[in-house]
Amino acid sequence: MKKLWYTVAMSKLMNIQQFQTNLSQWYAAFGRDLPWRHTHDPYAIWVSEIMLQQTQVDTVKNYYIRFLETLPDIRSLADADEDLVFKLWEGLGYYRRVRHMQEAARQMMSDYNGIFPDTYDEIIKLKGIGAYTASAISSIAFGREKGVVDGNTLRILSRIYNLQDNIAQDKTKKAFQILMDELIRGTDPSIFNQAMMDLGAGICTPRKPDCEHCPVQDFCEARATGTEGLLPVNIKNTSKTDLYYITAILKKEDKYFLVKNKEGLLENLYAFVQYEVESPVSFEETFYENYGMSVRLYEYCKEIKHVFSHRIWHMNVYIGEISDTSVPLDYEDCFYTEDELSELPISTAHRKVYALR
Ligand code: ADE
Repeated sequence: MKKLWYTVAMSKLMNIQQFQTNLSQWYAAFGRDLPWRHTHDPYAIWVSEIMLQQTQVDTVKNYYIRFLETLPDIRSLADADEDLVFKLWEGLGYYRRVRHMQEAARQMMSDYNGIFPDTYDEIIKLKGIGAYTASAISSIAFGREKGVVDGNTLRILSRIYNLQDNIAQDKTKKAFQILMDELIRGTDPSIFNQAMMDLGAGICTPRKPDCEHCPVQDFCEARATGTEGLLPVNIKNTSKTDLYYITAILKKEDKYFLVKNKEGLLENLYAFVQYEVESPVSFEETFYENYGMSVRLYEYCKEIKHVFSHRIWHMNVYIGEISDTSVPLDYEDCFYTEDELSELPISTAHRKVYALR
């Protein structure tokens, strides 16, 4: 049988125990003190890991504390009002995460009696949880030997083993998962994974890694051969799509017209009406077709650009008024005063629009 590359790689790293010891001693001395590292509660760890999926550690800290104060356990999240849950997430982006969390909380109430399941295989079946998050929760909360594979650990292992495999490819991620699961065996899984996260965040950084302070520098083949600056190989195919909108801040007397998104990127958040149209006149016509009310856009403000992972929104913001005196019954609830509006969950993109009024 052909030898797999990762077993070749493993054989290069002769003393895994020493690698683990260096890492855990360094973590004890230099690991970051983060709010979610003071608990063993799987619910709290889950909340932190979901927030950390696409958001920086420093931003997550305050959101994490507020979320847990308001919704301290699985049951409170399962029972919570949807608008409250989205309000707690406002500004974090990637709002699908929180909708999936509520679904997963309900799943745990019905299938697990409200108790967080404690194996990787069960955790990964919960809504919104992929391999990374299932590995993180099962290792940190339950001590399971599952290694975390993300940009940080892919970069670290590419350098340790001096590997040129493209880390953007799924087959590389799969192979590195096997490698991580080997490296974590026989040590404290929670410490190992979190030490690797901190090593990636503070020492083995993408640019200018601080090799002199690295606890595993003696194991690093890239350092030995001077290739650390060339690794990892990360060739992505991501082109973003540009979308051009007319976005209208529509007022009727002292109230603003906002709609709750039923689907899409910002599902369940409230938004100003926007269409992919080319002129204010076609906005007015489209609005009339959709809502049966006459509007007039009378002032152009400016273009706001908002970048998502795969899209760029160009929002050409206009101010307008709804001139009809009678409002169709279906849309009576869509008018909000400034005070009411401040309580609604609104995406960062639309908050930027609102700031222009
Ligand atoms: N990024 C993802 N999970 C993390 C954690 N538990 N600690 C620090 N950074 C993280």
